[in-house]
Amino acid sequence: MTDQAEGYTTADGRKIGGVVMEMKNITLRFGGVVAIHNISFDIREGEIRAIIGPNGAGKSSMLNVISGFYTPSEGEVWYKGAKRPPMKPYEVARQGVARTFQNIALFEGMSVLDNVMTGRLTHMKAGILPQMIWKGRAEAEETENRIIAERVIDFLEIQHIRKTPVARLPYGLKKRVELARALAAEPTILLLDEPMAGMNVEEKEDMCRFILDVNDEFGTTIALIEHDMGVVMDLSDRVVVMDYGKKIGDGSPDEVRNNQDVIDAYLGVQH
Ligand SMILES: Nc1ncnc2c1ncn2[C@@H]1O[C@H](COP(=O)(O)OP(=O)(O)O)[C@@H](O)[C@H]1O
Ligand SMILES: [Mg+2]
Repeated sequence: MTDQAEGYTTADGRKIGGVVMEMKNITLRFGGVVAIHNISFDIREGEIRAIIGPNGAGKSSMLNVISGFYTPSEGEVWYKGAKRPPMKPYEVARQGVARTFQNIALFEGMSVLDNVMTGRLTHMKAGILPQMIWKGRAEAEETENRIIAERVIDFLEIQHIRKTPVARLPYGLKKRVELARALAAEPTILLLDEPMAGMNVEEKEDMCRFILDVNDEFGTTIALIEHDMGVVMDLSDRVVVMDYGKKIGDGSPDEVRNNQDVIDAYLGVQH
């Protein structure tokens, strides 16, 4: 189904493009612990790519390598056709990679709108001094950032809580605000670490719909970690399966579901 250069068409008729991010032989060690062992895979433009595997498999570590939070011990990260030098997370973010966290990381005392506005920080050009000297430019930038933040807030249907402090929101809405902040950065690639974890059925359905809508509406490439196999099968175009830091499967949801190694390691047991 996959043509290396050209991409492929999904079962539901979406066009998937060329490789935008490629992990080549990534190994990550913490002292004696090998969190990731020699893993390679790619992410294609417009794709929803899932990373699954049991607890401790190394999924979050992999997302942290992609987002620049961890520097791999070995291996290379390629982005938009170029090898990426070691980078700080904010530099990776500036290149168009936004993320949410397994444990919500918002400013609890700040309003929803202000939290979403922090997603615009990577785009702000005017520093403090230019802001003082050249007020016009800073104001124009502020206005543009606000327009984009408001657009994302509308899109994710959280207008009614835009002034509410995040601390007062139920869990499911906090997760949506975190998604909004990531989207406000207008990312090329969006990384979601267990976006549905801890949610009730209704919240999960909402989040699923928003993830699909984001991909559809903005063409955003999405890599997500998810435990719920039903969700993974519904959402993703291709799936990487990790177990004890190793890659044990990679393919369409159907291919992965029928892979005996995957069944043994993961699907056969309850999580
Ligand atoms: N910062 C860290 N320091 C030490 N060990 C870590 C760190 N982050 C992750 N690990 C270890 O790496 C392994 C993979 O963890 P993680 O990537 O969080 O797995 P998953 O997200 O699949 O549950 C685990 O053994 C974990 O204890
Ligand atoms: Mg994790």
